[in-house]
Amino acid sequence: MKILVTGGAGYIGSHTCLALLEAGYEVVVVDNLRNSDAQSLKRVEELSGKSLSFYAFDVRDENRLDALFKEHRFTSIIHFAGLKAVGESVTIPTKYYANNLISTLALCKMMKKHGVRNLIFSSSATVYAQDNAMPLGEDARLGCTNPYGWTKLMCEQILRDLCVAEPSFSVVLLRYFNPIGAHKSGRIGEDPAGIPNNLLPYITQTALGRLKQLSVHGDDYDTVDGTGVRDYIHVVDLANGHLKALEYAQRNRGCEAVNLGTGQGYSVLQILHAFEQVNKVTVPHVIGPRRPGDIATVYADPKKARDLLGWEATLGIEDMCRDAWNWQTQNPKGYRA
Ligand code: NAD
Ligand code: UFG
Repeated sequence: MKILVTGGAGYIGSHTCLALLEAGYEVVVVDNLRNSDAQSLKRVEELSGKSLSFYAFDVRDENRLDALFKEHRFTSIIHFAGLKAVGESVTIPTKYYANNLISTLALCKMMKKHGVRNLIFSSSATVYAQDNAMPLGEDARLGCTNPYGWTKLMCEQILRDLCVAEPSFSVVLLRYFNPIGAHKSGRIGEDPAGIPNNLLPYITQTALGRLKQLSVHGDDYDTVDGTGVRDYIHVVDLANGHLKALEYAQRNRGCEAVNLGTGQGYSVLQILHAFEQVNKVTVPHVIGPRRPGDIATVYADPKKARDLLGWEATLGIEDMCRDAWNWQTQNPKGYRA
């Protein structure tokens, strides 16, 4: 079975390509390398001992996409390609809408034209409104506070409508919580450009001495120790969730939204201390002000993923902290080194 993976050179995409190759799928990647390095795919091939096909172009390029669908007979698509920086999406919203919506629409068109019926979409916990009770079930109220989030919610709606119009189609909207960690080999991992926005890459780069200190964004939330609580999920568990979603999509029709999280929340200080303890390093940090737009606590109800997909997270916070550090120490400058 041949799978088209858009955005496959990126953080979650590269781990998923590895899992797909290991499971015996044929993999074709399209990525414009806007936020990644083709080196990740070379390492995926090296780790799996198998090869994949890579095409460097923008998913919005319908002519090239059409030629690709003529060249390969895809069973299913996993659509990771997208811009994902929340802050940047506020500054340049039209770029986010253009990239994330038009790439999804181009794929919808090709699915219909070439009879490819299954698609797994990278959505996000950010599609949930901020006033829901925890844990977040898939039927919690939806609503966004930034353009990035809106692109995800709009793509969800487009894909839902597509499945109504095309009853033979099957789409799984995977709502990721906070992916962290890396493959245990340390050969592939998260390689953010510039100064990281997210907690774990900030911690690893501070531990390495590339950044001076971590600022903990607020310690006056109503949580266990006052710092923000999130549902961190190991990227390898997340990758495996995509394989389960593929199997589900191949057996079923219609559109389903499914959370991929652990159901367990950890605070910023709990993560920081776990990281220091597991890796025997010190991470200089200060308590800073709250970050605008953050809320106190976010964690998933992972029951639907268990019931529908037969998937649940298996790796814990120590694995996530150890593997993130292993990747960072082996690749202090990421893939560019
Ligand atoms: P990433 O930036 O590492 O990977 C995305 C990949 O898509 C990159 O390799 C980029 O070059 C490529 N890309 C972007 N636009 C493209 C286009 N128009 N054509 C071709 N390639 C394009 O990000 P990631 O963390 O691996 O995230 C993958 C997906 O999951 C994204 O859609 C993201 O929004 C979503 N997501 C990520 C997180 C997270 O915290 N990492 C959380 C929720 C959802
Ligand atoms: N944090 C710090 N200091 C930092 C960075 C983060 O204290 O330097 C804190 C944040 O305030 C928050 C927690 O660490 O409490 C996690 O923050 P991240 O930026 O790592 O992640 P978010 O939960 O804000 O958002 C992430 C992705 C979004 C995605 C969302 C899904 O960035 O794209 O998870 O839940 F939508």
